[in-house]
Amino acid sequence: MQSHRSVKEEIKQVADIVQAIGQFVQLKKAGRNFTGLCPFHAEKDPSFNVSPDRQMFHCFGCKKGGDIFAFWMEYHGLTFPEALKDLADRYNVQIPDRFSPSEEKKRSRLRETLLKINESAAQYFQRALTKGGRGNPAADYLKKRGITGDIISEFRLGWAPDSWDGITGYLRRQDTDMERAAKAGLIVNRKGGGYYDRFRGRIMFPIINLRGQVVGFGGRVLDDSLPKYLNTPETPVFHKGEFPYGLNASFRAIREKGTAVIVEGYMDLLALRRHGLDQVVATLGTALTPQHIRRIKGYAREALVVFDSDEAGIEAALRSLPLFLNEGLPARAVVLPEGHDPDSFVNREGLPRFMELLNRASPMFDFFLEQKLSRSGTDIEEKVRVLKEILPALSQLHNEAQRTLYAGRVSERIGIKEEVVLSELNSFRRNRSENTLERNLKGRVGRTETDKKIGDIQLLNLLVHHPGTVEALRDSGCGALISNRTVSKAVAYIFHKQEENGPVSLEGLVGDVEDEDVRIQLREVMLAESIYPEQEVDQAVMEIMEKARQKRLSDSVKEIRDDPEALNDLLLKLRDRNRC
Ligand code: UTP
Ligand code: MN
Repeated sequence: MQSHRSVKEEIKQVADIVQAIGQFVQLKKAGRNFTGLCPFHAEKDPSFNVSPDRQMFHCFGCKKGGDIFAFWMEYHGLTFPEALKDLADRYNVQIPDRFSPSEEKKRSRLRETLLKINESAAQYFQRALTKGGRGNPAADYLKKRGITGDIISEFRLGWAPDSWDGITGYLRRQDTDMERAAKAGLIVNRKGGGYYDRFRGRIMFPIINLRGQVVGFGGRVLDDSLPKYLNTPETPVFHKGEFPYGLNASFRAIREKGTAVIVEGYMDLLALRRHGLDQVVATLGTALTPQHIRRIKGYAREALVVFDSDEAGIEAALRSLPLFLNEGLPARAVVLPEGHDPDSFVNREGLPRFMELLNRASPMFDFFLEQKLSRSGTDIEEKVRVLKEILPALSQLHNEAQRTLYAGRVSERIGIKEEVVLSELNSFRRNRSENTLERNLKGRVGRTETDKKIGDIQLLNLLVHHPGTVEALRDSGCGALISNRTVSKAVAYIFHKQEENGPVSLEGLVGDVEDEDVRIQLREVMLAESIYPEQEVDQAVMEIMEKARQKRLSDSVKEIRDDPEALNDLLLKLRDRNRC
């Protein structure tokens, strides 16, 4: 553990948390801190804060926070030793091979092994694709589909030969732990014992994360047999719907252009890349997930989602609207001409025509409206039903002008008077805001407690932002003034640490606090601005000391009141003191 501490410290000295997190989250400067949309929960307004001074992050929405290691673990789904190792590699810090807690160690060992096995499999598949030159069925197939050598090597495409013992034999010859290879999803347990290849006779598409690791594969047959694509099952390193395919190769272009083009399939992405469109990712046949969008919004200001024109495609587009609204990423819908997917379209028509489609894409909201409206029948019931479907989306628009504009369009299209649409909308919003009002009222009732807490928070803020006050306040007994338990524990912790070690920096300590509420409380105060300017600090300390003194006095009076003997003693003492 000793060694971990020093590696940790060393990384903290060289790494900058704003720069590190800024690779994955778009951060804007706000006062001393940076803020952005939290990558850990759905939100439209930034409550995710990163403090360069304290080298900490904290989300005031979901309360996740901590140092660069905490971010790395949460964002990349790593254990502490894995995050440590990853960051150490990144920042060229030597890491001694020492003991770490065994459960975590086992987990990270397993994942590390699976990634290694995947990597070695990817290389095997890559070699198999180039072997035999022309006449290799997979190479011929890719050529036929217009995939160039550059794309093949950039995306590390490969070929799983049509054999039951291809990768299985290869891994065995490499002395691979075969049970682990089965856990990685590359080989399958045979009923009678032994293993066989999961992917046979398939073009292999490695799925590569932002750290360049192969987490899984997709494999496509060369003909019409089914299933067309086979994917790595859930494994400790691969979770479907979590990571957009191609982001590792596209994130720079996405950041530069500000736009991410989202398509469905492997071949769609590769075809667009081949034609020179770099800012593209693929969802791989699952519907868009909030996780996808959270990753993408770390780089993009807008998403252009390409949908098929069939029923399923349109349905998918409609379902994606609330996701985008919830995540605060503006999106536009691109619908392809019937019978096309991006791959077939760009290969037939070329990139400029595809770009025209992108440029003409309507905002997801307009698309939603148009679709709902075009589906509405003429009878009254039907109209009312459509209106009901549209209101929730309409009411989510922040901008009033926009709301009115759309209400007008809805009215025109369904033939319900504009006043009626608007009044329905307003009553919908009122109902909703009544709920919000109720919540706020409840919040305010809760706030009477917070009001009491304000003194507590101010005290904690003072201690955290002006460490010079810790000693004096500790000796004043001001702990007794605090009514909030969490704050009280946090303050006790600060006092205790100072007593133990002398003046200490909180940054290094807060991660070790066991009580989670206390940890959150400390982070929030550390990331908040200082309440007292330097010139008011002494005054504040004196006030607190005076309050503490009065509290002590009144407490002792309370104690004594019911105890005549003690009261007598006190009186005697006072008399003695007056005599001298
Ligand atoms: P499509 O059926 O649209 O395939 O599935 P595609 O991408 O156009 O592939 P080509 O052009 O026929 O080669 C879209 C995506 O859905 C996933 C794959 O990720 C695919 O790229 N999918 C599809 C599967 O996972 N399994 C399947 O059996 C089919
Ligand atoms: Mn296709």
